[in-house]
Amino acid sequence: RHGRRDARRARLRGRQQARDDHISYVDSLPSGQEKGLFYALDLGGTNFRVLRVQLGGKEGRVVKQECDEISIPAHLMTGTSQVKLFHSQFCTLSDQWITMSHVMFFFQELFDFIAAALAKFVASEGEDFHLLEGRQRELGFTFSFPVKQSSIASGTLIKWTKGFSIDETVGADVVAELSSALDRQGLDMKVTALVNDTIGTLAGGRYDDNDVVAAVILGTGTNAAYVERANAIPKWHGLLPKSGDMVINMEWGNFRSSHLPLTEFDQALDAESLNPGEQIYEKLISGMYLGEIVRRVLLKMTEEASLFGDDIPPKLKIPFILRTPHMSMMHHDTSPDLRTVGAKLKDVLGIQGTSLKTRRLVVDVCDIVAKRGARLAAAGIHGVLKKLGRDIPGSDKHRTVIAMDGGLYEHYTIFSETLENTLREMLGEEVSSSVVIKLANDGSGIGAALLAAAHSQYLEAEV
Ligand code: GLC
Repeated sequence: RHGRRDARRARLRGRQQARDDHISYVDSLPSGQEKGLFYALDLGGTNFRVLRVQLGGKEGRVVKQECDEISIPAHLMTGTSQVKLFHSQFCTLSDQWITMSHVMFFFQELFDFIAAALAKFVASEGEDFHLLEGRQRELGFTFSFPVKQSSIASGTLIKWTKGFSIDETVGADVVAELSSALDRQGLDMKVTALVNDTIGTLAGGRYDDNDVVAAVILGTGTNAAYVERANAIPKWHGLLPKSGDMVINMEWGNFRSSHLPLTEFDQALDAESLNPGEQIYEKLISGMYLGEIVRRVLLKMTEEASLFGDDIPPKLKIPFILRTPHMSMMHHDTSPDLRTVGAKLKDVLGIQGTSLKTRRLVVDVCDIVAKRGARLAAAGIHGVLKKLGRDIPGSDKHRTVIAMDGGLYEHYTIFSETLENTLREMLGEEVSSSVVIKLANDGSGIGAALLAAAHSQYLEAEV
């Protein structure tokens, strides 16, 4: 009986998991023929980026590109707490009304902020960029949150992740929101592609290298995308695309399983997070959380074993005070007296005069947390390669390239080295010699612009 029950549970889990991957409506990756001036906007972490690129078609490829990075003020990121505050102060009107109007205001504010920055960027367009006479500017919008797409240029927000939380915005049509914000700025621009960062990275990666089969993001969050045969996707009810392919956004950050062991630190982090029960795999791996896990472990070591003396340093109790870049700096400290570790403990956590032994312990904690994340991420990549049949020696010697983006992978060397070693371990020497992880820095921006070009409103007219 237990066997049957377990099998049923596994089936249900499987079904639940299947709901997390998303059809992107991208059925062909860039061909290299894309031509013209296109914009891209990338929203998904603490920064957002704007980009313009002049594509020269087969011969010219990327003729010129320019980009800008702007950080999002924190108060625009989490609407909820402010709604509650507002709520308790002004409860004379109907609750519903206050909640709705106020929250919409925050969402609008976020999009208005983005649209204003984009308008400024467009205004600085130099003469090297050419828009054909009489044409409207077109934009690829990389929105790196789970979205239920209804076409290549429309979709609704399923939920926020990575510390964003704006209530009542779930279900909103993100392209419609952005388009009205652009209108409010008086910016005449059409969103022709809405893509996840994984999809953008896959598109940008393929434009550069024909052997790219999947994309992985290891940054504030983590996720992956790969190319699937459309007839193997149960959820696809549309016409079979000409290519026969469909790009899938896995949303693997939301993977959870009884086979994924969680410590008390992971459980507490999850329970106290903005999205309890969600994004469990992401909470073990990505840049948003690694430093926070380390903080929780250090706090427990202080409480139970006086790691930093008898008093508990007050700052150590503040969630998210220890960021992953701090952790990475401590972890990479090679000085004999671990002076960077000492300096970070002092500057970030206000802990003075630590002994070498204590500093070593701190490095050990960073090591365990980073390597666990890296090994789990490698297991995810191995899973994708297995799905693609690229985990076994092929008859032809094809390369398998994974386009990678994200600050965690790019800047945290011990993390990326561990990931690569683990993948090699899992694939074996022969297969891993043909597998390449290629850093596609801001590949998603170019990718979104390329997809905007591939879905341009003027394309039909040209054929
Ligand atoms: C989070 C988002 C996902 C995104 C990833 C990387 O997991 O839900 O859409 O791709 O972060 O930015």
